[in-house]
Amino acid sequence: MTHESVLRCSDIIKNFKSESGDGELEILRGVNLNIQSAEIIAIIGSSGSGKSTLLHILGGLDRPTAGDVFWHDESIYQQKPDKLAELRNENVGFVFQFHHLLPEFTALENVMMPALIKGTRYPDAEKRASYLLKRFGLGERLNHRPSQLSGGEQQRVSMARALTNNPSIILADEPTGNLDEKNTDTILQLLFQLREEENVSIVLITHEKDIAGKCDKVYTLQNGVFES
Ligand SMILES: Nc1ncnc2c1ncn2[C@@H]1O[C@H](COP(=O)(O)OP(=O)(O)O)[C@@H](O)[C@H]1O
Ligand SMILES: [Mg+2]
Repeated sequence: MTHESVLRCSDIIKNFKSESGDGELEILRGVNLNIQSAEIIAIIGSSGSGKSTLLHILGGLDRPTAGDVFWHDESIYQQKPDKLAELRNENVGFVFQFHHLLPEFTALENVMMPALIKGTRYPDAEKRASYLLKRFGLGERLNHRPSQLSGGEQQRVSMARALTNNPSIILADEPTGNLDEKNTDTILQLLFQLREEENVSIVLITHEKDIAGKCDKVYTLQNGVFES
């Protein structure tokens, strides 16, 4: 395995305006992280500790108050918004607790979408999406719409979608938070198999200690920093 830095952040600080507007909430107070290729790390922490806020910042969705994020050693928040969106679509796959699939499109179309946005030719996008859905055990569900799929199946579609453009990293925010034990096991097994097959790194936010324990490293967010 190579030891290439896929995602790194340095001294991330994030403040939000307090409700009354005259103070600041210091949510992240100097977070540092370095993720290598094909590494799977877990981030745990109590509700409200800033896990989702950090994930959004790592994924280029929300600018930190201070500090910087690097994908493959390139600073992302110094990019123009269009360029950042393009880099994000090529490098990062997101999986959220709620799948955010487009209801009027089939599973296949949902998974093809990031590739079509990138400008991949339709047949190539279709081939990749179909391969991924079959790999996720959904070969019989290609033309189903999200409403015709179970919760576990919907989440597997959203994982396939996250992988469409061969990202170097998957950022997953409590991806199994809404699933029963059996579906949770299926999703986790797939994640661990995919890191080998797709050489992808994974950041997994979870509040389940069992799940975190299976990852290569576990970081606990507390009082705005990783507890050491
Ligand atoms: N856009 C926002 N504006 C103000 N406060 C926010 C915003 N987003 C999150 N927060 C606050 O930041 C804290 C951390 O939120 P979050 O990152 O969602 O926590 P976690 O995912 O660990 O449960 C919470 O107190 C939340 O209310
Ligand atoms: Mg959260």
